[in-house]
Amino acid sequence: MRIAVSGKGGSGKTTITATLARTLARQGYCVNAIDDDPNPNLANALGLTPDQIARLRRPPREEILAERVDDEGHRSLKLKRPFDEVLQEYGVCGPDHVGILTMTGLLGAGKG
Ligand SMILES: Nc1ncnc2c1ncn2[C@@H]1O[C@H](COP(=O)(O)OP(=O)(O)O)[C@@H](O)[C@H]1O
Ligand SMILES: [Mg+2]
Repeated sequence: MRIAVSGKGGSGKTTITATLARTLARQGYCVNAIDDDPNPNLANALGLTPDQIARLRRPPREEILAERVDDEGHRSLKLKRPFDEVLQEYGVCGPDHVGILTMTGLLGAGKG
């Protein structure tokens, strides 16, 4: 199952996401949490240590994602590499064995 959490800044997305991730993990589900917020702080909310947070690296999008366009012009992104491999290389395993990957961050002024 994939759950996407989006919405207005400050509305509680990160808090809800971290709580859901750890609650589901404690119930025995294998949970991976992916932060795609330009101001990423899901790792902190999940309770990672500063050392674990320092180990998170942003995967180069072009290396792991391919864009597809269907016959009707709808665009989607597809992983080029197995998720576990990407997680192992760029992510960390946090509390309750939640895997975490940070996809973006502040890229510089005017860069989105
Ligand atoms: N249910 C809640 N009740 C009170 N404060 C909350 C609740 N959920 C989140 N917060 C607080 O609101 C602020 C914004 O939450 P956050 O999860 O960072 O929002 P977002 O990720 O949508 O920007 C944080 O200081 C957080 O601790
Ligand atoms: Mg947030």
